[in-house]
Amino acid sequence: MSKVWFVTGVGSGIGAATARAALQAGDRVVATGRNLDKARNALRDVAGESLVFVQLDVANEVQAKPAVEAAVKVFGRIDVLVNNAGYSLLGNFEELSTVEIERLIATNFYGVMHVMRAVLPVMRKQRSGRIINVSSLAGIVGFKHCGAYSAAKFAAEGLSASVAHEVEPFGIKIVVVEPGFFRTDLLDAHNARYAGSAIEDYTGEGKAEAMWSGHHGKQQGDPAKLSDILVKIAAMENPPRQFVAGSDALAVVKPALEARLEELRAYESLSKSTDGSF
Ligand SMILES: NC(=O)c1ccc[n+]([C@@H]2O[C@H](COP(=O)([O-])OP(=O)(O)OC[C@H]3O[C@@H](n4cnc5c(N)ncnc54)[C@H](OP(=O)(O)O)[C@@H]3O)[C@@H](O)[C@H]2O)c1
Repeated sequence: MSKVWFVTGVGSGIGAATARAALQAGDRVVATGRNLDKARNALRDVAGESLVFVQLDVANEVQAKPAVEAAVKVFGRIDVLVNNAGYSLLGNFEELSTVEIERLIATNFYGVMHVMRAVLPVMRKQRSGRIINVSSLAGIVGFKHCGAYSAAKFAAEGLSASVAHEVEPFGIKIVVVEPGFFRTDLLDAHNARYAGSAIEDYTGEGKAEAMWSGHHGKQQGDPAKLSDILVKIAAMENPPRQFVAGSDALAVVKPALEARLEELRAYESLSKSTDGSF
């Protein structure tokens, strides 16, 4: 049966590619974006009756419920939610202001939360649904300059892992997707944000912008291929809880998880020594 997708941040990158892949699979898509002209433009080649656009700035809590209501009004249900909208804020933690971090978290974490909160009652009523939350490789391991970005992605991972237990009895499954580097507009000079201040001590290590902007346009991951996989994952009866996307991500995650297990084993007896006796 044709599914109904609700995708956030379809103006470019993984969001646009996911909307396109779902349509190509014969599904219907509610494509949302904070800038509807940009969203429509990104998907003009696949316009038709199976695609509707709805205004949604995910950082703005009051927009989430009306956007979901508009989607249900058009297609009657929501089978797959893709929480994709996000941006990067890069810089040494001490150089990032609280306001910069709060803004990032408003989109990259609270955005996920607002849209899940609006969609879950629809899926609970249906007794079915799939939620795909786009996290990051930086949602599993920490990287230099990624303190704020990682904090938001780790938070989205924690929310997903916990809520998954609560909603599984209603036939709702939550998948967290952890991409490595994908060729999108994420690191484009207009989209990526960098710390507004600089601390002399850190300058010897080089500037965050110089380090990260160089990756733009050279990322190995293909968003169209990832989106085809998301279509497959959405159709699985038992999808993975976490899906690491891309060989660059695997090359980092595998040794990081193995090192963690090794450390856990090395400190096992110390850990057990904290047990109290009754
Ligand atoms: N590309 C990668 O290497 C990579 C790696 C790991 C994780 N990710 C994650 O993948 C997701 C998609 O990013 P992308 O790589 O496809 O980058 P992208 O091409 O820059 O797309 C991001 C999309 O999110 C939208 N967006 C940003 N803030 C928003 C808000 N407050 N409300 C609604 N939409 C908003 C942007 O809309 P505007 O056009 O209006 O700015 C844009 O359409 C993000 O969550 C990102 O963190 C990407």
